[in-house]
This record gives sequence, structure tokens and C-alpha cells, in this order.
Amino acid sequence: MTTLTALTAEQREIQAMAREFAQREIAPRAAELDAESKFDDTLVEKLGALGFLGMLIPESHGGLGLDSLSYLLALEEIAQADASAAVLLSVHNSLPTQMLLRFGSDAQKAQFLAPMAQGTMLGAFALSEPEAGSDASALRTQAVRDGDHYILNGTKAWVTNGGNAGVIMAMARTDTPEDRRGGKGISTFIITPDLPGLGVSKKENKMGLRASPTVQLVFDNLRVPADRLLGEEGKGFQYAMQSLEHGRLGIAAQAIGIAQAALDASIAYAGERQQFGTPIREFQGIQFKLADMATRVTAARALLHTVAAAKDRGEAVGPEASMCKLFASETAMWVTTQAIQVFGGYGYTKDYPVERLFRDAKVTEIYEGTSEIQRIVIGRSLGK
Ligand code: CAA
Repeated sequence: MTTLTALTAEQREIQAMAREFAQREIAPRAAELDAESKFDDTLVEKLGALGFLGMLIPESHGGLGLDSLSYLLALEEIAQADASAAVLLSVHNSLPTQMLLRFGSDAQKAQFLAPMAQGTMLGAFALSEPEAGSDASALRTQAVRDGDHYILNGTKAWVTNGGNAGVIMAMARTDTPEDRRGGKGISTFIITPDLPGLGVSKKENKMGLRASPTVQLVFDNLRVPADRLLGEEGKGFQYAMQSLEHGRLGIAAQAIGIAQAALDASIAYAGERQQFGTPIREFQGIQFKLADMATRVTAARALLHTVAAAKDRGEAVGPEASMCKLFASETAMWVTTQAIQVFGGYGYTKDYPVERLFRDAKVTEIYEGTSEIQRIVIGRSLGK
């Protein structure tokens, strides 16, 4: 794999460590977990023990305190082994962790960050609802202040890690039905599973990422202590949007990992598969396909690393994060489609990994903002 960005010795070390771990501990079980639609319940402990769940958490709070590029390098390696493991990691590190780091009080950071870094508290993010997907600020879950608590009622959809989470960042309305304020009427609450009124109502039966449970959460008079409000009332939508900028870099890394895995599998297969008396990679039709696949994967990675390096220098990269996610996810979908073509009929079976990679790739064009939403974010930024 070519890395065009100059990496430091430490970044290369993290990349190599993640690759070794992912290939030894995660890749061998990926097909089986997918087939059985099973969550690997040893995964969180293993990821926590090696520091993967605290990569972006400062050392003072028990994490590794790494830069974004190091984290994304590790995430790509995990995604090459199993995209289900990668989404667990991406959501945890990019969404609830970032929200706490950026907007949490000292007391909230002290309570949650160390267990999140160790893996005793997995993080989840609950923004979407059955009727509020792309139009996220139309969410309906209502929070009403009741003394030193808020009472939350509503349903949250598409929550990665939701059923296994120790901490859920949930967005709810704190405006009133008489005085709706759009995005400004939304606040963020830190929910833990011990709070009365939290239920898991449905596990989605998905096309891909089958080893990553995605659930609906129901808040039924959920009593949340007032000190679980994150930051200020009315700023929750802004906090969610800002953390999604980071999340979209993570999904880009996941998509690149999926695409690289499909490319590697295709190169290997094209070298072994004989037709017309010769390995199929000798045919220009196949060589051109592999060349186009490799070019797009390299371009997606170069874009991601460039944007991550800019972020690590402190630059604002909102629209650029959307570009990374848009380009990487569409690359993953295209590359996995080509991979199935290289494999021919075998690619259409579960005997080879490319059909799983194809199914896993699709959702990267959908979650954390569809490709259409990324184009809106990018388009709105142009000329400003
Ligand atoms: N940073 C800071 N503030 C932001 C922001 C950002 N990136 N994006 C928007 N805002 C602020 C705006 O400045 C605006 O503030 P004011 O009201 O003060 O002006 C406010 O938020 C509303 O912004 P918009 O008018 O742009 O809002 P909109 O309703 O037009 O929506 C959108 C914008 C880009 C379409 C947004 O709704 C969006 O990103 N939708 C997609 C949602 C999404 O990505 N969901 C993924 C859920 S997570 C998931 O996938 C599950 C999982 O577990 C993996």
C-alpha cells in the first residue's frame, strides 16, 4: 500500500501495530460473524486493552492522546479486516468521545473519558429518528425539565453500538411545541443504561455490517439528571454537526479499508485464476480494471491523509471532511463492484470475501450523512 503523505515514525508504528492486531485477531472471524450476524463480544475488551478506544483521548484522561491521522491509519487497518469492527471504533472515537472532549464539563470528562478509553464504557450517538434522517434538525424526541432532571420521550433510530453502549450521546428537543426553534431548540444529553426508561426496541436486519448491531432506542419517560446536559441548552445540534465532521473522516477511513481489502483480494485472485490457459491478470481487460481500482483507492487515501494532516494543524476542515467521506465511500462502492466482476461467478457467492465487502461498502454512502448530504455541505461552502 502506498502512503503518499509523509508519516512520522510513530504514525507508521501505530499503523503496523493496528495491521498486525487486525489481521491476527479480527480478520479470521469476519466471515463467520457476518454469516451469523453476530457481535464479537470479546472485541471491545481487546480494543480497549490496546488503547484503540482511547486513541483521541488525552493521556491525562487515560487515553493515548494521538493525532487524527494516526487514528485514521489504525481505523483503515481495522476496516480492511472487518468493517463491522471499524464502525464500532469510528462511532466511539469520533462522536461521543469528541463531543465530551469539546463540550463536556470537567466533571463529565472525569466521569466518562477514562472508562471510555479503557473499553469498559462503549460510546454511541443517537441523533437520527424514524422520521428525521437527512433532515436531522426535525427530530422530535422531547426533553422536559422536571426539577433536577429532564424527562425524555421519543425514539432514536440507526444507533450503532446502541444496545452495548455504556454512554449514549442523545439529541432531544428542549424547545416547546408552541415555540419551535429548529436546530436551536435541540440539546445533547449523556445517557447511561442504568437510567430508568431506556429501552432497546429493535435490532435492524441489515444488508451489510452484520456483525455490528444497529438498534432503535426508546426513551419512555427517561429520567436524566440535569447534570447530564452536555454544554448549553439549545446548542446540541451544533455539537452534533461538529462531531459529525470528525465522524465523516472516520467513515472515509473505513471505506478506504473496505476498498483496499477488495483490491488486494482481486489482485490475488487474478494471479491465481486461469482462463484461456493463463492467469486472468495477464489480460489487459483485468489489468485496466485493477489499475483503475488502485488509482481510486490511492486518490481517496491521499485526500483523507491531506485533510487529516490539515485538521491536526488546527485548520477547519468541515466541507473537506465531507469531500473525504463522499469520495471514499463512492470509491469503496465502485471498487467492490469491480472486485465482484474480477471474481466472476465466484464473486457472487459467499465462498469469497468480495460480496461481503460489497455489502459493507454500501452503507458508507448512507450513514453519517448520505452522499447527497455531503454534496449539500460541500456545495454550500463553495465561494464562501
Ligand atoms: N458545525 C457547526 N455548526 C453547524 C454545522 C457544523 N458543521 N453544520 C450546521 N451547523 C449549524 C448552523 O450554523 C446553523 O446554526 P444557526 O441556526 O445558528 O444558523 C444550524 O446548525 C442549522 O444548520 P443548517 O441550517 O445548515 O441546518 P439544516 O437543517 O439545513 O441541515 C444538514 C444541515 C447538513 C442537512 C444536516 O442536517 C445534516 O448533516 N444532515 C445529515 C445528518 C447525519 O449526518 N446523520 C447521521 C447520523 S449518525 C449515524 O449515521 C448513525 C451511526 O451510528 C453511524
